Amino acid sequence: MMFAAIVRSFDCAPKYELVDTPEPSESSEVLVDVLAAGLHNRVRSQANGSHYTSSDKLPLIPGIDGVGRLPNGQLAYFVAPDTSLGTFAEKAVIDLRRSVPLPEGVDPVLIAAAMNPAMSSWVALHRRVDFQPGQKVLVLGATGNSGQMAVQIAKLLGASQVIGAGRDQNRLNSLSALGADVIVSLAGDPEAAAKRLGEAASEVDIVIDYLWGKPAELAMLPLLTQRSDRSRKLTWIQIGSVAGPTAAVPSAALRSANFQLVGSGQGSVSTAGYVAEFPALIDAISAGKLQVNSVSFPLSQVEEVWNAPAGMGERVVFIPSVETERAL
Ligand SMILES: NC(=O)c1ccc[n+]([C@@H]2O[C@H](COP(=O)([O-])OP(=O)(O)OC[C@H]3O[C@@H](n4cnc5c(N)ncnc54)[C@H](OP(=O)(O)O)[C@@H]3O)[C@@H](O)[C@H]2O)c1
Repeated sequence: MMFAAIVRSFDCAPKYELVDTPEPSESSEVLVDVLAAGLHNRVRSQANGSHYTSSDKLPLIPGIDGVGRLPNGQLAYFVAPDTSLGTFAEKAVIDLRRSVPLPEGVDPVLIAAAMNPAMSSWVALHRRVDFQPGQKVLVLGATGNSGQMAVQIAKLLGASQVIGAGRDQNRLNSLSALGADVIVSLAGDPEAAAKRLGEAASEVDIVIDYLWGKPAELAMLPLLTQRSDRSRKLTWIQIGSVAGPTAAVPSAALRSANFQLVGSGQGSVSTAGYVAEFPALIDAISAGKLQVNSVSFPLSQVEEVWNAPAGMGERVVFIPSVETERAL
């Protein structure tokens, strides 16, 4: 038996319970001790049944990735298999083809906190667009964990200008220290915010969009119509939808400018594509090139932490294992 977070209803927070330890069933699978697992937005949508990959099957153990110790003692970062047995547990069955080794001594909490928010823009810029150093990037929704990472990653990969847009002024102010060259506030009247975006960001080559919904819908034409050369490509990468699941794309946007709309996430990039990007991203995180704001809790506190909002820009990481708890 093992302790795990269990979701029995999509309306309630997971509870910490004793359950059967899962067993590997394929030759590529092993049972790992989970050292750290991040509470990402994707985990919340998995646990409330709203994610587009949700199968509605309950009960489930939430958690989509983590850092674990393999039976041979090797540390690894892994993405959970697509089953109802996730990573918020003392042990998890993982598919070795969805894991990469980690150097001994790396901080499991740092990796568990950073990988999901960081991979959203890292994978998008490497796999979904032909990003070139020197290009200009707008991060729409730059105040969240993924947006803050996107600002840093765009700069790390050679963007000549990074524009960060979001609502929360305190977090917007902190973006300059992460590499943002220009900050645009989306607070207040949505039309006025879209106008501000058009004035500040009409020359960008790439938009990394975590918002979608009205802010994205309203920003498209102001950005495109004020471009000095509308035939110069602008690629909009749809990654998150914290402001709404749908956005009406103005037809004129697609006709009147060289405007490309793509998405990046599970499905549009293959699992093998993600895994191929992990080592370089892990190197960047472990080398301290990406600032990560994490806060960790024992998994036994999952229910209360789930119901309490995380602090400003913080990524919650659960510690299911005694090994990591001792080390912290
Ligand atoms: N496709 C992928 O590979 C991938 C990977 C990771 C994350 N995601 C998605 O990306 C999105 C962001 O994730 P995250 O990890 O950054 O979440 P997060 O840390 O919770 O941040 C969400 C941010 O969105 C802001 N926000 C919410 N509603 C807004 C609105 N209407 N207008 C402007 N800002 C708004 C919040 O700021 P305030 O409320 O303070 O203004 C907060 O800063 C989520 O949809 C997540 O599922 C996708």
